[in-house]
Amino acid sequence: MVGTHGMRVGRAMSRLDGRVAIVTGGAAGIGRHYSKALAEAGARVMIADILNGEGVAGEIASACGASSVAAATFDVSDEASVKSLVATTLDRFGQIDILVNNAALYAKLTPVNVTDIDADLWDKVMAVNVRGAFLMVKHVAPHMQARRKGKIINIASGTAYKGIPRMLHYVTSKGAIVSFTRALSRELGAFDIAVNTLAPGLILSDTGIENTQHHDEERAPVRNSRAFKRDAYPEDLLGALIFLASSDSDFITGQTIAVDGGSINT
Ligand SMILES: NC(=O)c1ccc[n+]([C@@H]2O[C@H](COP(=O)([O-])OP(=O)(O)OC[C@H]3O[C@@H](n4cnc5c(N)ncnc54)[C@H](O)[C@@H]3O)[C@@H](O)[C@H]2O)c1
Repeated sequence: MVGTHGMRVGRAMSRLDGRVAIVTGGAAGIGRHYSKALAEAGARVMIADILNGEGVAGEIASACGASSVAAATFDVSDEASVKSLVATTLDRFGQIDILVNNAALYAKLTPVNVTDIDADLWDKVMAVNVRGAFLMVKHVAPHMQARRKGKIINIASGTAYKGIPRMLHYVTSKGAIVSFTRALSRELGAFDIAVNTLAPGLILSDTGIENTQHHDEERAPVRNSRAFKRDAYPEDLLGALIFLASSDSDFITGQTIAVDGGSINT
């Protein structure tokens, strides 16, 4: 819908009008909420996931217009697949302003003692959670560098700060993301590209809700560790996401913003 001054109306925010975002893992779980929130804030969104994102894309198209969204299936750990995803995004939208490195192996993982972690699973977690973020940056950054602008938001986790046990593969991968952000921000700062980490606490997302970690006996200690003693939901993350994606955060880079009700202090 177009208002009297030619502005799109009917949505709460328009801070990302004219921007293009890629959300890896954007078809399910928390990423699905990121995809929707970025579109509602005015961005055109490429939903990039190993799962089919057409359903979410359809919901976004109904709410924000068909030109505001596309979905592509890809494997973030595979370089050829990443290159093709980036090329498809540029073909479709002509630019990339925002990269949300959200894809990860998380909800499907179950707690396991270090001595029982299968070495192939360890490699798989690192391939998706760490190599995936690296490959996305490797192929998106040249485009951002040429335009001398960009926002890269890497999704880590409060578990990297808490060092929770029996998830060593996952926690190690998220610790790597914090360091990845710090080093990358210094390298890409010369191109005015901002790189920050968003570190959620335990979030009750639709993919995680059946995970054992989300059972109440696991959630209660997490709630008690917070200054705000309640469960958290994907919606709790969206304000920080849009802030980091928008020009409101233009002088912020290399930082970790924890969104967890005050459980950890970064
Ligand atoms: N849910 C939580 O409590 C929580 C807490 C802190 C951090 N996080 C982080 O937030 C992000 C999203 O978490 P979630 O709960 O939605 O997890 P999830 O495991 O449900 O979702 C991850 C998404 O990544 C996609 N994906 C997995 N492998 C892929 C691959 N090879 N290529 C492309 N896409 C792939 C999945 O299909 C899914 O859409 C993750 O980075 C996770 O580590 C989650």
